[in-house]
Amino acid sequence: MRFQLEGVLQSQTLEELRDELLAPQADWRPGHESAGWHARGVKHNRQLDRASPLHQRLAALVSESLEAHPLVQSAALPVRLHGLLFSRCGPGEGYGRHVDNAFMAGGRADVSFTLFLQDPAAYSGGSLMLESPAGEEEVRLAAGSAIVYPSTLLHRVAPVTSGERLVAVGWIQSRVRDAERREILFDLDTARRQIFQREGKSEVFDLISRSYSNLLRRWGE
Ligand code: NI
Repeated sequence: MRFQLEGVLQSQTLEELRDELLAPQADWRPGHESAGWHARGVKHNRQLDRASPLHQRLAALVSESLEAHPLVQSAALPVRLHGLLFSRCGPGEGYGRHVDNAFMAGGRADVSFTLFLQDPAAYSGGSLMLESPAGEEEVRLAAGSAIVYPSTLLHRVAPVTSGERLVAVGWIQSRVRDAERREILFDLDTARRQIFQREGKSEVFDLISRSYSNLLRRWGE
């Protein structure tokens, strides 16, 4: 299941973030330095140096906003967010077809996210393309919105043709590693919340809630 988050960051925060990220003193490095051996040849972007104090401050801010989002909690069931990095692509840059590594320094990657930081009018191209058996889905969101998708998907970033694409990407280790199980739990959680809103802590609510908790107990880790 893939889902969109809107308004992860407010416009003033976004503006401040962009100012700091695009300032001349920010330390951007070639992205292929951090790619897995099989993705190195197709990764053409720049990333903010993860060791820099600027990265650490901004990554913490973005990670907290994402992790606090109710939809992330309910649909991704995070153990932790990890590996957040800031990526920029100018004309001719992009990221060819690849799958994200299963394990990274910060944990297992069950769920991937891309948070768009730049107004879509500020650049051309640069769409995130997610592959599924039905074909490719093109994702290009407003600044401050994010797409969250299973890390099991092949995906790519189409080449930027003008302007500059600026995003934060990262991963979530989930309590439930299987995407179909996460989806069942998300449906049940959504249903029990709606029932609770409509009729309070009714008998039906208790039964759905029990199923939710017991499935999470079975599948969670
Ligand atoms: Ni990727």
